[in-house]
Amino acid sequence: MDYYLLKIVGLTVTASAIAIHLLIKVRKSGPANLPPGSLGLPVIGQTLGVLRAARANSGNRWIQDRVDIHGPVWKASVLCTPTVFLTGPAANKFVFFSSALRARTPRSFRRIFGDKSIVDMHGEDHRRIRGALMEFLKPDMLKLYVGRVDGQVRRHLRENWRGRTTVRVLPLMKRLTFDVVSELLLGLETGAVRDALVEDFRRMVEGVFAVPVNFPFTTFHRSLVASRRARLLLEGITRDKKAMLGLGKASPSSDLITRLLSLTDGHGEQLLTDEEIVDNGMFALVAGHDTTSMLMASMVRHLASDPATLAAMVQEHEEIASNKGEGEALTWEDLLKMKLTWRVAQETLRIDPPFFGNVRTSLEDIEFDGYRIPKGWQVFWTAKVTHMDPRIFHEPAQFDPSRFESQSPVTPPCSFVAFGGGPRICPAIEFTKMETLVTMHYLVRHFRWMLCCNPVLSPLHGLPIELEHRASLCIRPE
Ligand code: HEM
Repeated sequence: MDYYLLKIVGLTVTASAIAIHLLIKVRKSGPANLPPGSLGLPVIGQTLGVLRAARANSGNRWIQDRVDIHGPVWKASVLCTPTVFLTGPAANKFVFFSSALRARTPRSFRRIFGDKSIVDMHGEDHRRIRGALMEFLKPDMLKLYVGRVDGQVRRHLRENWRGRTTVRVLPLMKRLTFDVVSELLLGLETGAVRDALVEDFRRMVEGVFAVPVNFPFTTFHRSLVASRRARLLLEGITRDKKAMLGLGKASPSSDLITRLLSLTDGHGEQLLTDEEIVDNGMFALVAGHDTTSMLMASMVRHLASDPATLAAMVQEHEEIASNKGEGEALTWEDLLKMKLTWRVAQETLRIDPPFFGNVRTSLEDIEFDGYRIPKGWQVFWTAKVTHMDPRIFHEPAQFDPSRFESQSPVTPPCSFVAFGGGPRICPAIEFTKMETLVTMHYLVRHFRWMLCCNPVLSPLHGLPIELEHRASLCIRPE
């Protein structure tokens, strides 16, 4: 009797489960089926929550919490716009390659960085500006700059690390990467102008994560004021360099600005307008120092807890150093030998992607995974949730650089997306590699470190470490 009762209950449960499954499937595929999740309060939606999370460096947690509730596709309202959050390889591929989605930064971002930067360009204009940037960022050009980056890194370590027992890594890495990009992109040497510019860029970036209200006492207002000052400086630099190029007193390959000024179209006209050069210089400055500094500070944090990987890295770098004269700068060929160090960087980018995510706008009603995304809504892609998916990366929380030894054949495309993908993939992967490898070469050979106080990598705490100097090595001035 019990057996028959169990069988009837079992059949009923199975039939109900199938019915519910079918019902959900029908609902999901229906044209009016919006993704789950709430659009929050009228107008502001979840804007304050997401800005607070981004400022506190807990944006990934904010997203993961909602993925845990709703699954990989869900909606919220951010910066007054309904937004569908998408995670996972298929979603990343959809965002990177769909022609129905258009990159568009929020208005507040354009007010700070200008509206002629590559991130707001499409079609032919995007290809033209990207092609011009690549003329500076391609390996053949970067080879010319390794020695200059080497000099910057050694000067930075001499002035800010040597002789110290504790340092805060993140602010120092931010300063180092700013110095590198301002020299290579703008040709700015050390000095008061560069010191003022670094402060202005700090204020500008704060404005990106602030509520976009322009009153004299708001963070956003301070950001706009800093942006005006920085823009005036970049306009002046561009004018001066143009004049110098005209007089034959500057080299077209000395920095990004001279490179962009020297490029011409089929009719001999300057390829990019002066305004495009300034806006893209502004954007590249911020894109080029905030992300790389986070990467290098995160590497320091992971290496502090992984002595075996650190020891293997030291060996890699000692071998390279043993073939060079004392104080001799690194070359492009040296960087090609730093294979383990780049795997450590990739694994760091997987666990701690410095680029939180980005939005696209839908140009028409589109569908993804059975859900409708109405025209005009934003779509937000993000890297970390995919990177931490155990179905893609075995034991994802484990720091294991060897997973990048060979690309696993079962990893679906768009699984490792720290640099994005598709036509808008970061054009500066080789630049990032150059800067990171040179810095790590000197760091692991000259210092040992321990995490101390509060080993948190946030702008507030900045990752404090205790430093120990390796006596046998010295950093010679250039
Ligand atoms: C660790 C270092 C870096 C990371 C993780 C990173 C990440 C990214 C990502 C994810 C995108 C694509 C955004 C999207 O599709 O929505 C991107 C685009 C971009 N990045 Fe990077 N980036 C880094 C370093 C740099 C550097 C050093 C520069 C400049 C010197 C730079 C310049 C750019 C530019 C100009 C774009 C826009 C490309 C386009 O729209 O076609 N990035 N980056």
